[in-house]
Amino acid sequence: MAAPRRIILDCDPGHDDALAVMLAAGDPRVDLVGITTVAGNQTVEKTTRNACAVATVAGLSLTPIVRGADRPLLRPLRIAPDIHGASGLDGPPPLTPTVVPRPGHACDFLIEQVMASPGDVTIVATGPLTNVALALMREPALAETAREIVIMGGAYGRGNVTPAAEFNIYVDPEAASVVFGAPWRLTMMGLDVTHQAACPEEVQERITAIGSPLGIFAGQLLEFFRSTYRREQRMDDPPVHDACAVAYVVDPDLFGTRPARVVVETTGTHTSGMTVTEFVEGGDSRHDVGISVRRDALFDVLVEAIAALG
Ligand code: BDR
Ligand code: CA
Repeated sequence: MAAPRRIILDCDPGHDDALAVMLAAGDPRVDLVGITTVAGNQTVEKTTRNACAVATVAGLSLTPIVRGADRPLLRPLRIAPDIHGASGLDGPPPLTPTVVPRPGHACDFLIEQVMASPGDVTIVATGPLTNVALALMREPALAETAREIVIMGGAYGRGNVTPAAEFNIYVDPEAASVVFGAPWRLTMMGLDVTHQAACPEEVQERITAIGSPLGIFAGQLLEFFRSTYRREQRMDDPPVHDACAVAYVVDPDLFGTRPARVVVETTGTHTSGMTVTEFVEGGDSRHDVGISVRRDALFDVLVEAIAALG
């Protein structure tokens, strides 16, 4: 078997971010080098605490968790309590994390880890792109030194906050513009593909039936996420958006992608945060865009990863 892919997960847990952490920690094809947190679904205090809570239940006492930006580069923070609740991770009974964050800033952690192993580390970003943009602005060589970046964010079709914009890009379009414009291999797993990865009740039941504290915790997260998706997005099943970005590193064959050129709209009155996508078959392009997913296989991988964490 090939050596596990080393990744840093930059996230804002968040229910689907929590599932992304579990997949990254539980699948042997990935080595989770660290978790960095950003303000997005909730304040960075809450997303960091939530990352620590997930790490506590998953038994990840050795995985560094480093807190990052508390607000977008230029704009006031917009959070999503309508989808993720007041804590950012509502559903399971409250718990006091025993895992605590490391000192330092996410942006420095990203730079240190990537620059220490050229061509090795993949960044998987599943929240607003503020930390990654800050890291790129401080160390522009980050882009050529990272192996690649995989982003959950954006859409070539319709958005979910506005008709044009997906949440992660909408919250910090200036950061997204920096990240999409940098010279690295970038894969966008947007709503076009993640909405195809909606979690059926049957999969949620399989996860709960694992019977471990983590399986029960993940089932409770999915139950809450299902209720808010039904109410706010009129979808029966909640998409596991962020787990798709990790799954693409675990096994790219789970997804169909197309080469593209993506730019981020930062100034449009009605289109701020739009990921304007031009498909460029056969051309030279640094961007790939997710278009399809083998959904059943994806959920098998996710269930197995959660079960493997015991
Ligand atoms: C994205 O927004 C957040 O609420 C989710 O965690 C995901 O990263 C989906 O638009
Ligand atoms: Ca997220």
